[in-house]
Amino acid sequence: MVLITLALTLAVVGLIYLLLTWNFDYWRRRRVPGPKPKILVGNYPNMFSMKRHLIYDLQDIYKKYKNKYDAVGVYGGRLPQLLVINPELAHRVFVSDFKHFHDNEVAKFIDEKTDFIFANNPFSLTGEQWKERRAEITPGLTMGRIKTVYPVTNIVCKQLSEWVTKQVRLGASKSGGIDAKDMSLRFTSEMVTDCVLGLKANSFSEKPTPIMSHIKDLFNQPWTFMIFFILTSTFPLLSRLIKLRFVPIKVEEFFVGLMSTAIEARKAQLAGGKKFERTDFLDFILQLADKKDLTTRQLLARTMTFLLDGFETTAGVLAHMLLFLGRNPKVQQRLREEILPRLRDGIIPFEELNDLPYLDACLNETLRLFPPAFMSNKLCTETIELPNKDGPNFVVEKGTTVIVPHYCFMQDEEFFTDSQAFQPERFLELDAAKKYKDRGVFMGFGDGPRICIGMRFATAQIKAAIVELLTNFNVRINPKTRNDNDLEATAILASLRGGIWLDLESRQ
Ligand code: HEM
Ligand SMILES: *[C@@H]1O[C@H](CO)[C@@H](O)[C@H](O)[C@H]1NC(C)=O
Repeated sequence: MVLITLALTLAVVGLIYLLLTWNFDYWRRRRVPGPKPKILVGNYPNMFSMKRHLIYDLQDIYKKYKNKYDAVGVYGGRLPQLLVINPELAHRVFVSDFKHFHDNEVAKFIDEKTDFIFANNPFSLTGEQWKERRAEITPGLTMGRIKTVYPVTNIVCKQLSEWVTKQVRLGASKSGGIDAKDMSLRFTSEMVTDCVLGLKANSFSEKPTPIMSHIKDLFNQPWTFMIFFILTSTFPLLSRLIKLRFVPIKVEEFFVGLMSTAIEARKAQLAGGKKFERTDFLDFILQLADKKDLTTRQLLARTMTFLLDGFETTAGVLAHMLLFLGRNPKVQQRLREEILPRLRDGIIPFEELNDLPYLDACLNETLRLFPPAFMSNKLCTETIELPNKDGPNFVVEKGTTVIVPHYCFMQDEEFFTDSQAFQPERFLELDAAKKYKDRGVFMGFGDGPRICIGMRFATAQIKAAIVELLTNFNVRINPKTRNDNDLEATAILASLRGGIWLDLESRQ
C-alpha cells in the first residue's frame, strides 16, 4: 500500500515537473544561446519574492552575454522570450525592421470586453487598427495645441508654487520633507485634467477631487499583475482564456463619468452660442467625433489615452529630475543661471521653452537614469531571420515575445561612462541625443513609428514645472531619501526605492 502511494505520488510529481519544464528546450532547438531557466520562475529568479526589481534579473543576463551575442533566449515562467542585448538590434526592432515587430506584447493579454479603455489605447492596438487610430489622434497633440494650453500650464505652475510655499511654512522639512512623487502627481493631475477636459481637479487643495487617488489605484496593483503573469507564463494557453484588466472597473466608471461631464459642459457652451476660445484637446476630440460619427463610448476611449498615459509617467520624470537637481547643487545652479535671464513676467515664453539646452540635457539625463518604461515587450509580427554575432543565425517566429531592456543599455559603462552619475553634459555635445538614439542606447520615449505621441506634451509640462520651481525655490534632498539609484522592487514605472523626499527652501 505504502509503495503504491509512493509510486503514485512520484508519478504525479514527475508529470507536473514535465508539464512545467517541457518547453525549456525551445531556444536550444532554435540554436539560440541563453541561461538555464528554473522551474516556475524561468529566468526571473525573483519573480515570487518581489524583493528586487525584475530588470536586475535581466541586467545580470545582459552583463554575462552582451559581448558574445546580439540576443539570447530566456523564459518568463515557461514562456520563451527573446532578450535583445545588442542595442543595434534594438534599433532594428524599433525602427528599421519595424514591420517585423509591429505590436506590443500586451495586446495578447487584453481585450475590449474586459478592458475597454486600455484595449483602445494605441499602445495595445495592433495592425491596421493601430495605424488608423494613431493617425487619428496624433493631430490632437501638435505643438500648436500644446501652445494653446500653455497659459493653463502657467496657471497650474503658480498653484504648484503656492502649494509648496504653504508646505514650507508648515514646516515640511522638519516632518520628513515633501514627497516629490505626490507633489508631481498633483501637478500633472491638474495639468492634464484642465488641458484635456477643461475641468479643475483641485489637486492642490485640502480636498482634491478623487482623480489622483484613482490614478494611484491604477499603478498600485502589483499583486494583480504578478498573479496574472505567473498564471499566463506558466500556462501560456491561459492568456487566451483570461484577460487582464489594467483599468479597474471603479476607475473606468469614474473617468467615464468625468469625461461625460466635460463633454456635456462643452457641448452646452457651444449650443449656447458661446464660441469657445480654446482650440484644446477636447475641442479636437469633439471635432473628431463629428467627422467620424463616433458614439460617446468610442469618444471616451480616445480621450482616455490623453488622460491616463500622461499622469504617472510625466510625474515620475519630474520627481526624479528634482531628485538629481537636489543631489547636484552645481548642476542646479547652472540650470538656474540658464533660466533666470530668459524669464518674462515670471514665465518663459512658449517658443523659448525648447531653446534651453541645459534644461533639455538635464531632462534627458534623468530619463536615462530613471526611464519610466525600463523595458519594452514587443511582439514579432512577421517571421524574420537574424544574425547572432558569435552564434549561428536564427529565426524569430511570428508570435514570439521580444524584450528590449532599455534600462540595461542606458546604465552600461560602455555607452555612458560613469553611468551612475548624473552628468547632463553628456547630452550637450553636438547631436548627442540623436547619436545615442541611432545606436539604440537611448530610447526613453521609444523610437520609430510607435514613438511616444505624448513626448512633446510631457516635456513641455516638465520643463515648465522645473522653471517654476527653480525660480522660486532651492532644491535640497531630505536625508530620508536614498543616495543610490536602486529601483523600487515592484514599481510598474521605474522609480527610486523608498521615494524621493525634498527640502524646498524659498528663494525670496
Ligand atoms: C515623460 C513622460 C512619458 C514617457 C517617459 C513616455 C514613454 C513612452 C514610451 C517608452 C512609449 C513606447 C514607445 C515605443 O513603443 O516605441 C510610449 C508610448 C506611448 N505614449 Fe508615452 N510617455 C510619456 C508621456 C506620455 C503622455 C503625456 C502621453 C499622452 C498625452 C503619452 C501617450 C503615449 C501613447 C498613446 C503611446 C503608444 C504609442 C503607440 O504605440 O503608437 N505618453 N510612451
Ligand atoms: C533630448 O532628447 C530628445 C528626444 O530624444 C531630443 O530631441 C533632444 O534633442 C535631446 N536634447 C539634448 C540636449 O540632448
